[in-house]
Amino acid sequence: MVIDIVTVVPDLLSGSFSHSIMKRAQDKGLLKVNVINLREYTTYPRAQVDDYPFGGGAGMVLMIEPLVNAIESLQKSTVYDEVIFLSPDGKKFNQKMANSLSLKNNLLLICGHYKGIDQRFRDHFVTQEISIGDYVLSGGELAAAVLTDSIGRLIPGVLNDETSALSDSFQDNLLAPPVYTRPEEFRGWKVPEILMSGNHKLIEEWRYTQSLERTTERRPDLLD
Ligand code: ADE
Repeated sequence: MVIDIVTVVPDLLSGSFSHSIMKRAQDKGLLKVNVINLREYTTYPRAQVDDYPFGGGAGMVLMIEPLVNAIESLQKSTVYDEVIFLSPDGKKFNQKMANSLSLKNNLLLICGHYKGIDQRFRDHFVTQEISIGDYVLSGGELAAAVLTDSIGRLIPGVLNDETSALSDSFQDNLLAPPVYTRPEEFRGWKVPEILMSGNHKLIEEWRYTQSLERTTERRPDLLD
């Protein structure tokens, strides 16, 4: 999968995908993340990419021309399954959306900055608008990093048995159960005995009950 990310602050994303599972996905050739500087696609002097909003009001708006130059240039070499604009007024991101996007071939993520982007670009080029939560970030970059990480780790072949996504929180609408590792006892705090029993069936049942209890207590909305 290719994930291309268009941004006016590429530095915010540099290094974000060079570690851990994102690095492994790229080393295995299953994922390629490209960060594209929007300023390289403007024809305005001093690499200007934003301007004042028509009608007045606070903040600057990303202009349509550099965005269209960027997407049309990228589309010459890549066919995108989705063009995603990250925005607090988009559809709230969840695991189900991550699962479904992980099966695509190529994604283009557009990061807004300042007050947003010209609505005409959203109307004519964007296929999905996604928010990562009900709060406002300074731009879409951190949201794009969140999407890339959560989608990238789900690409078939990226995770192995040990890191399998099947036991992740939300994968079956349940939060993950608690986990423990060595030592068996620390300051008198013991690991639940069942986990030492070697009885895999009972351990699975215990984990399921714990997941259910945790979800009921913390996220009853997931059980609806
Ligand atoms: N840009 C600014 N805030 C955002 C959010 N909550 N989700 C996605 N993109 C954003």
